[in-house]
Amino acid sequence: AKAEPLRIMISGAPASGKGTQCQLITQKYGLVHVAAGDLLRAEIASGSENGRRAREYMEQGQLVPDEIVVMMVKERLLQPDSKEKGWLLDGYPRSSSQAIALKELGFKPDLFILLEVPEEILVERVVGRRLDPITGKIYHLKYSPPETQEIASRLTQRFDDTEEKVKLRLNTHHQNVEAVLSMYEDITIKVDGSVNKEDVFTQIDGALTRLLDKRQATSESL
Ligand code: AP5
Repeated sequence: AKAEPLRIMISGAPASGKGTQCQLITQKYGLVHVAAGDLLRAEIASGSENGRRAREYMEQGQLVPDEIVVMMVKERLLQPDSKEKGWLLDGYPRSSSQAIALKELGFKPDLFILLEVPEEILVERVVGRRLDPITGKIYHLKYSPPETQEIASRLTQRFDDTEEKVKLRLNTHHQNVEAVLSMYEDITIKVDGSVNKEDVFTQIDGALTRLLDKRQATSESL
């Protein structure tokens, strides 16, 4: 029998490296990357009423209400590509109500990855982050500088990537993280996210390889 596709969640403080690791994971494992923050930014860009409301919360570093976020994530996970290739859910759930909503909809993760990074590193990562609007690639002026002058000249910054706003985002993270973690204790792996991005990926890659090997062995014995 064919093994089921992987269903993974990745979590961590603002700028802990979730998006960066998701780019490396999807490259190797072909999972569909579903990022709550990206879905919200796309909604803002579309000019919709939900986007306008979401932006008000994001500006304050607060969680966007469940009625907007849960529906968006659910719709993306129900797309045929997510079902067929498996998914990598980034930045969701961020509260126990979001975790419960996902469970009630029948979405069950195989692994919950928590990136651990000391707070003093996070602020520097946020302030130096830049994005390539054409490729979607995440850069950092110091740790992942753009490869060419042409890329450098088109990089953009997120509206909530200031020192003041990241402190608000960190507060929100601290208020909610324990409740979410307690729901996934049995499938959680904690990863040291303070080392360079390749070494962070090595830890995640090892966990995913072990999971897949175990899956394969189980499906062959059926
Ligand atoms: P979201 O977009 O999810 O932001 P976040 O959680 O604050 O996380 P970031 O995207 O800032 O960081 P990241 O962990 O992906 O780090 P990255 O890889 O870019 O959410 C934004 C807002 O939307 C929230 O505040 C909230 O309002 C709302 N929202 C989102 N989800 C929601 C939900 N479920 N419910 C309600 N509201 C929701 O890396 C950061 C920088 O560091 C980059 O420059 C990168 O190059 C660099 N870097 C990465 N790894 C390393 C490394 N190992 N060494 C050195 N530098 C590194």
